[in-house]
Amino acid sequence: MENNVSPIPTLKSWFEEAKSKLPYEYAISAALATATKNGVPDVRMVLVKSWDDSGFYFYTNYRSSKSQQIDENPVGALCFFWYELGKQIRIRGPIAKTDEKVSDDYFKTRDRLSQIGAWASKQSQILPNRFILQKRIAYYIGKFGLFEVPRPNFWGGFKLIPLEIEFWLRKPYRLHERIIFKREELTSNSWDRQFLFP
Ligand SMILES: Cc1cc2nc3c(=O)[nH]c(=O)nc-3n(C[C@H](O)[C@H](O)[C@H](O)COP(=O)(O)O)c2cc1C
Repeated sequence: MENNVSPIPTLKSWFEEAKSKLPYEYAISAALATATKNGVPDVRMVLVKSWDDSGFYFYTNYRSSKSQQIDENPVGALCFFWYELGKQIRIRGPIAKTDEKVSDDYFKTRDRLSQIGAWASKQSQILPNRFILQKRIAYYIGKFGLFEVPRPNFWGGFKLIPLEIEFWLRKPYRLHERIIFKREELTSNSWDRQFLFP
């Protein structure tokens, strides 16, 4: 085991490579796993719009299934996989809502119809027919008119704060390389690094 080695340089170079070689949305897409309070798992794709020393950020409807699961069981995992690069990154840790300012800043960067969509979509609830969604979109287009679309209070960001980060690198004969970084404290800069059998 090696102490005090940071996963950040590898994260940086792998994300840079993915963004330079792959379509942007593919490079930032990850499977997000969460679970109910009883431990029933669920998984879906999200766009991880940014990351920094303190965590990985994604945005969603705070009343969606994933958000309810995060409320009752605030831990999760992310898995990026880039087939063309033969690389996978797995990240595990607690999940917390971002500051409102982070959500506001990101919401402002979305195009107007995506902002309207955030208001119109009761994400994860039953939609009896598509026309109901279209009517809701038309309603909010009319409501906001020429004004700036404010961020709905039921929509915003989450941050997954990593306690474990594993890098997987494809190698011939399935003898892949796996390197796992772990830390005890959410704020610690001191990571342990170990290799895993493939
Ligand atoms: C590539 C891809 C990226 C996605 N990104 C997001 C996202 O960033 N936020 C989001 O709420 N849903 C995103 N979705 C939709 C989710 O996968 C999912 O359908 C939705 O969030 C509802 O999930 P839930 O019912 O588990 O809450 C994405 C889907 C795909 C296929």
